Amino acid sequence: MKDYSNMSKDELIQQKNKLKEQYNKYLLEKIDLNMSRGKPCKEQLNLSNQLLNINEYVSKDNIDLRNYGILDGIDEAKELFSDILNIDKNNIIIGGNSTLNMIYDVITRLYIFGYKDNIPWGRLNKVKFLCPVPGYDRHFDILDKFGFEMINIPITKDGIDMDMVEKLCKEEEYIKGIICVPLYSNPTGTCYSKQTVERLAKMETKAKDFKIFWDNAYAIHYVYKKVELYDIFKACKKYNTQDRILYFFSTSKINFPGGGVAILAGSDNTIEDTKTHLSYQTIGYDKINQLKTVKFLKNKENTLKLMDKHAQILKPKFDIVLNMLEKNFKDNPILKWEQPLGGYFVSVDTMEGLAKNVVSMCKELGVILTQAGATYPKRFDPKDTNIRLAPSFPTPEELKKAMEIFCICVKIATIDKMLA
Ligand SMILES: Cc1ncc(COP(=O)(O)O)c(C=O)c1O
Repeated sequence: MKDYSNMSKDELIQQKNKLKEQYNKYLLEKIDLNMSRGKPCKEQLNLSNQLLNINEYVSKDNIDLRNYGILDGIDEAKELFSDILNIDKNNIIIGGNSTLNMIYDVITRLYIFGYKDNIPWGRLNKVKFLCPVPGYDRHFDILDKFGFEMINIPITKDGIDMDMVEKLCKEEEYIKGIICVPLYSNPTGTCYSKQTVERLAKMETKAKDFKIFWDNAYAIHYVYKKVELYDIFKACKKYNTQDRILYFFSTSKINFPGGGVAILAGSDNTIEDTKTHLSYQTIGYDKINQLKTVKFLKNKENTLKLMDKHAQILKPKFDIVLNMLEKNFKDNPILKWEQPLGGYFVSVDTMEGLAKNVVSMCKELGVILTQAGATYPKRFDPKDTNIRLAPSFPTPEELKKAMEIFCICVKIATIDKMLA
């Protein structure tokens, strides 16, 4: 097919008329497809059904887990996550069912009480956060809720624009943190290089209580290729900056989203400080679910086998999306996309000023995509280009149709822009 940029006005109009015919045909079909959220599909959820049959409640140390207690989680759960993530078990707190909840709580505590003898963030005139973009909407929504000023940091091939991060952190004491998804990032699939991790560990920060929110949500969630993330704790130890790390992980996309187990990991100081605060918040999280998770996942090896099964289900779906993008836009570069190795998303960029339009055209045809702008703080994508595609939940047939519609909408919106 001819590249749109080489077409005459008449050719473009002709092309648009053809596309409009297809558009109108889909309009009559009254389609109802949702490609908006990164949710596992039923087949993936079924992989963990055995967990529902586990009804044990006595720990390896013979503690009756039906009762109150054990604030920071049962030992066998710490051992399991220590094994999976290669973090010392003494530096792990097992929480409830959600990392987002833990992130929100950590920020609330820093806002109200502050870290150690630093001024609580809520008493400062302003707090700024660095936000790698495109990123995860719910992260940005939390930061926005607290009134923090968010600074966009471009995602790069190696992770994030570290020159910019280093410069800003060195100069501005109001920059209190950065929120990162270091592996198979949401939505770009970016994996931080060793050098990026090292630079984050090493960099000078004007704020003494600077925090790196290390949301390793997709730590073992490969689709095409297993990528090893450089150990941030190891890097920080070298520069004595361990206290800046707040590491999060959950089993939401290993077993059941919202029914899994979340963890927070940090330095000895961070764990001690967090436990002190937690002791006011709760007597202990759901230890029965922690035990069920341990009995089900068993160890790293077994967990990785489960992740292979997830990958087998996800791969054909990612193939559909990526092949459709390749087929439609390889020789007609009006859309750019990232080639993820894992995670839950494919991030695409339209020509400037078209993302909102494309998402609303898709909606008109019954295909719901993530809201345009959602991958940026305040849901404002300055160039209005980024769209997050989430292939996991629909069936392959639904996905094919959704992608056909998506490609048609991108083409029509682009021709309209060119003709204008
Ligand atoms: C980067 C990231 N962090 C956190 C979450 C949610 O995690 P949880 O279910 O543990 O709250 C998601 C879910 O999509 C995510 O993409």
